[in-house]
Amino acid sequence: MDGTTFNGPITTDEVLAGLDNRTVFELERDHGNTDLIRAIEAARIAGPFTSVSPWELEDPSGVRRINAAGYAAIPFGERYPPLMDFLDRYLAKSRQIGLPVQSLAPWRAALEAELVRLVASLDTSHSNSRVFFTNSGSEANEAAIKLAKAFRPNATYFVNFKRAFHGKTTGALSITSNEDCQSPFRPLAYETLTLPFGDLEAFEALLARKDPKHVIAVMLEPIQGEAGVIVPPQTFLSGIDRLSKQYGIPVIADEIQAGLARSGYLVPSIEWGGMSPDILTFAKPLGGGLTPVGAAVARKVIYRKMLGGMNFKTHSNTFGGNSMSMAIGLKSLEIIRDEGLVARSRVLGKIGLERLEALAKRHPKLIKEVRGFGLWFAIEFHPVVPDRTALGMKDLVGEFTTILALMMFHRGGLHANLAANSHRTIRLTPPLTIPEDLYNEMFDRIDAVADDIGSASKLLIRTPPTSMVDLARISIGV
Ligand SMILES: Cc1ncc(COP(=O)(O)O)c(C=O)c1O
Repeated sequence: MDGTTFNGPITTDEVLAGLDNRTVFELERDHGNTDLIRAIEAARIAGPFTSVSPWELEDPSGVRRINAAGYAAIPFGERYPPLMDFLDRYLAKSRQIGLPVQSLAPWRAALEAELVRLVASLDTSHSNSRVFFTNSGSEANEAAIKLAKAFRPNATYFVNFKRAFHGKTTGALSITSNEDCQSPFRPLAYETLTLPFGDLEAFEALLARKDPKHVIAVMLEPIQGEAGVIVPPQTFLSGIDRLSKQYGIPVIADEIQAGLARSGYLVPSIEWGGMSPDILTFAKPLGGGLTPVGAAVARKVIYRKMLGGMNFKTHSNTFGGNSMSMAIGLKSLEIIRDEGLVARSRVLGKIGLERLEALAKRHPKLIKEVRGFGLWFAIEFHPVVPDRTALGMKDLVGEFTTILALMMFHRGGLHANLAANSHRTIRLTPPLTIPEDLYNEMFDRIDAVADDIGSASKLLIRTPPTSMVDLARISIGV
């Protein structure tokens, strides 16, 4: 053991009373994901944070920041009172067993029915669909991938799209389109044919060239999240769906980030894209920001191919469908519905995108492009060093640009996300419940940071030298 040690076990009472921040850093650095912890600490964005309201975080020095991070998995903010009140009631009253793997389960039954009802209310062809619950978005996609393969046993590859993100577990990783993440693990679980996102003609050309019966499924996000909120032409989605149906190819819509209100739609592949996907996956907001809940919803005919008859052992898990997660999932859907968060996301999203577009116009040397769809925004920066001088280190410069931009926002009072499948891109995913004054304040803070910095190269100049040295050391493995 090369770091902080405790003489005895760390007790829950000690953690509840509050560990000091240095101890938390050292424990994480010495026993966890060391270099990630070092990098966020070097960038001075590590916290640990406490929540002072559902929408604001406080850092160890008492500074408050608006929380626009959480990777789209914090739909209501931290400790949102309606969800916390429900959780108190659940813990006090529910007597259902926690892990009803081999028995009937009222909470699971209710969430299964609600998810099918929700999808079927938008696409009646799903009124007889079935649900499989998981413990993450990646695992929901694992289920979807296996459902599709079991349905098309002789097919050999998936069609996916450039910069698609479906997760990093082995099966999902093979459909995620990111060479850095994939290359250490080749050969991957599944072959893919990767097309440009938004290019329907490329799909048409593929179908003219190759026998469609070899395609296991087409898998896509209706709007790409980790690529940095990439919105395809609306006709792209309906076109993919039409051609897939024409050739008998199943379609998997990954709604994990876009779905359940973030995009301003409950199921944008159906409502905005005009698709009728055969399998849909959900996760992030379904857990209310409290617990992992993932789900794959599939047409009965597909579901039965993998799990019909006595084949229930073909795919299963231990924790999927556990009572507390199901209860939180059901309450999360209820809050989204009762508080009109879909419409709110759309209305506030329009205002936010207008503000970002105005900002990008004012700062062409700093911001390359802004994008948005609902309460879901991406700001793409210019590189801190021009590509022609970055030589072979374009990706590293891109990564640095992202971290420096996160640092600047942090200093300006905003906690933001990076984008896993895109360099130089910051994503903003504020809670869908954020009060309007705080929402406007968020854009005021972004404006102030950008007005102060002015150009991408200044991101570099304004970074404290100690942070630069520490980040440089981590990037060369020291
Ligand atoms: C579209 C999409 N699919 C799948 C995943 C993976 O979900 P998880 O991180 O819960 O495994 C993500 C996560 O960002 C995502 O955005």
